[in-house]
Amino acid sequence: MRNIVLVGFMGTGKTSVGHALAAELNLNFVDMDAMIEAREERPISDIFATDGEPYFRSVERQVAQELAARDGLVIGTGGGVVLDPKNISDFSASGLVVCLQASPQTILDRVAHDSTRPLLAGDDKLQSILAILAKRQHLYAALPHQVDTNGRSIDQVVDAVRHLYRAS
Ligand code: S3P
Repeated sequence: MRNIVLVGFMGTGKTSVGHALAAELNLNFVDMDAMIEAREERPISDIFATDGEPYFRSVERQVAQELAARDGLVIGTGGGVVLDPKNISDFSASGLVVCLQASPQTILDRVAHDSTRPLLAGDDKLQSILAILAKRQHLYAALPHQVDTNGRSIDQVVDAVRHLYRAS
């Protein structure tokens, strides 16, 4: 069975939706960030702080290649996976890539109390969200399958992704 790969900015619901979707479809869910943390035996914030973002991206690239070579998975990616076009071409070749979207305010509401994301560690989270989105939104928007998560429950988003999967 083809993979379903959930892509999108931090706080768009990739992990929560991925878990629920995998349970419904009887597939295994794999969270890329959790896989990276297990492999590195340290949290993502430590990887960024000690070895920097380029090192994190190299591990992320390696994990993306490995997962794209498997099948029957629901894969929750990290928000920056779109930065390397090879990740998207590999995932597109092995499954359906679906981009979850949310407005900056929705993202802020969802990540407000989270301290695990190094790119949103500053005092002004909304400012960080807007600055990163300005650099990346064209990469997310270029993906052919989009699901709006604003004001939708996890179950509603799961249904929308399932619909795209069936139709594809
Ligand atoms: C990142 C998103 C994070 C994680 C890392 C970098 C990004 O994943 O991979 O902190 O560059 O957007 P989530 O999207 O699961 O928060």
